[in-house]
Amino acid sequence: MAKVQAKLRNTIVTAALPYANSDLHLGHIASTYLPADILSRYLRHTGTRVVQVCASDDFGTPILIAAEKAKRLPAEYVAYWRKRFDEDLRALGIEFDLFDRTSSPENIELVQHFFRKLHTAGYIYSANVDQFYCEFDKKFLPDRYVRGTCPYCGATEQYSDGCENCGRTIQPGEILEPKCSICGRPPVMKKSLHYFFKLSAFSGRLKEWLRGNDNLQSEPKNYVLGWIESGLQDWDITRDIEWGVSVPLPEAAGKVLYGWFDNHICYISAALKAARVTGDSGKEFWNNSTIYHFIGKDIVYHHYLFLPSMRLGEGSYKLPDYIPTRGFLLLEGRKLSKSRRWGITVRDYLGSLPPDYLRFYLTRITPYAQTDANFDLQEFKSKINNELIANVGNFIHRALIFVARDYGLVIPKPDEDEEAERTLVQAKSHATSETSRLIEEGHYDRALRSVLDFGNECNRYFQTAAPWEKRRGAVTAVYHSANAVSSLAILLEPFLPFTSREIWRQLSLQPPLSSLPWQSARNQLLEPGHVIVAPKPLFKKVEDSDIEELRKYLQK
Ligand code: MF3
Ligand code: ZN
Repeated sequence: MAKVQAKLRNTIVTAALPYANSDLHLGHIASTYLPADILSRYLRHTGTRVVQVCASDDFGTPILIAAEKAKRLPAEYVAYWRKRFDEDLRALGIEFDLFDRTSSPENIELVQHFFRKLHTAGYIYSANVDQFYCEFDKKFLPDRYVRGTCPYCGATEQYSDGCENCGRTIQPGEILEPKCSICGRPPVMKKSLHYFFKLSAFSGRLKEWLRGNDNLQSEPKNYVLGWIESGLQDWDITRDIEWGVSVPLPEAAGKVLYGWFDNHICYISAALKAARVTGDSGKEFWNNSTIYHFIGKDIVYHHYLFLPSMRLGEGSYKLPDYIPTRGFLLLEGRKLSKSRRWGITVRDYLGSLPPDYLRFYLTRITPYAQTDANFDLQEFKSKINNELIANVGNFIHRALIFVARDYGLVIPKPDEDEEAERTLVQAKSHATSETSRLIEEGHYDRALRSVLDFGNECNRYFQTAAPWEKRRGAVTAVYHSANAVSSLAILLEPFLPFTSREIWRQLSLQPPLSSLPWQSARNQLLEPGHVIVAPKPLFKKVEDSDIEELRKYLQK
């Protein structure tokens, strides 16, 4: 009889692409990269085929300007940042099947395909528009190339596309006393042929899609529906610069597409590349997958309106099933700000403390919602010391010490289970299903909480059984505690992969932890007679000096 093949569900997980002009900071990790990684790791324990991708967001005026300032070629400049992203994310245990770039040949080709198809279908039209032009530099000056005074609040030295002081968007040509940011001379207005994407044509279909998709969070969904009600504006998708995807039309020579036209298409080009599928089989793969795009709440507009309408207009690539959207991360109650130098980068953090402490704390404080979370240095210390180390860490270490010391590293054969054992086994099974339910619902903070609750249960069991008193039942308590440790290793893996790997090593268990079925956390994985290795404490307490070290980055 033919063997029945387990049916694999394909899932594509993407995390918003970081702009290739600065280091990743803790805010990016909390809202986007860590949640995406937790989901992917969990899904891999459920037999799902996961393709997890990201890329550097290479194109656009701000990046071109930054490259010019650094006196580097744009391509070299973005490659430098992409390498740093890849290193930082890996060091945090956030591993993508592919960390691509929006400037890859595959992406450029797919972006031009989207443009052509949308253009032919009548969703892209052209118009002559007034643009700033510097007669000295002989250049059009899009957004950031012009500085001036905000027409709303009077703040000086603002970019021509938005005011940092009052937060308002400034329309082309509205800025007062404009100056070319290259030479400082006042620019003139000159007509340029631009292309526009008819976002307004999708209002009806977008509404239908939003209303019909129950996987989307209601909060962003509702305000996006509100934006549609108040009327969508068409998007100017052209820029008169050299760094970008060329508009694939002969009459548009020298013009490139706006960064937000090309970047999200890289979700598709990167996923297909990672899955090694092209042409029709690529489409089939994409269209038969569950698709998640993880983002922060600042890019809701682009992901709930621009991205789906471009896919609807192109017509052959499925829309996302989930767009998990989370709020900002405040640091000591204040918003992160590059210009005010208020922030901690991933590099800063990793110079002082282990990756799993950050993963633990950020997961604990980041809800599946638009609410902002707050990174509080003192609270970080107390949560790590009291919840992670005193609870989970302490139990695991004590349990293994007993196996080592009283049974010569050999898992002992238990006696009959009693009430206490039945309660523990029940708690284990409850934690396994509860944690998976919460992860599937997007509540990673509460999912981690449920693993910690099980950790508390383990501590209680160990404390009551008191194997150090060498009463009847001590052997059973050691057996059950060691087995609870192996379950904890599985339940913690999506959140704390480094810790789980270390527990696995100490338990001397063979199959790779990352592919072990989630449900096996219910089982007794350690049989009597199994030999473990000498246990070592998993964690080191966070000291005040560590906190001071982190605080230094804020004063830099
Ligand atoms: N680089 C953008 C940002 O940081 C995010 C791009 S996400 C994608 O805001 F959808 F465009 F890919
Ligand atoms: Zn100039």
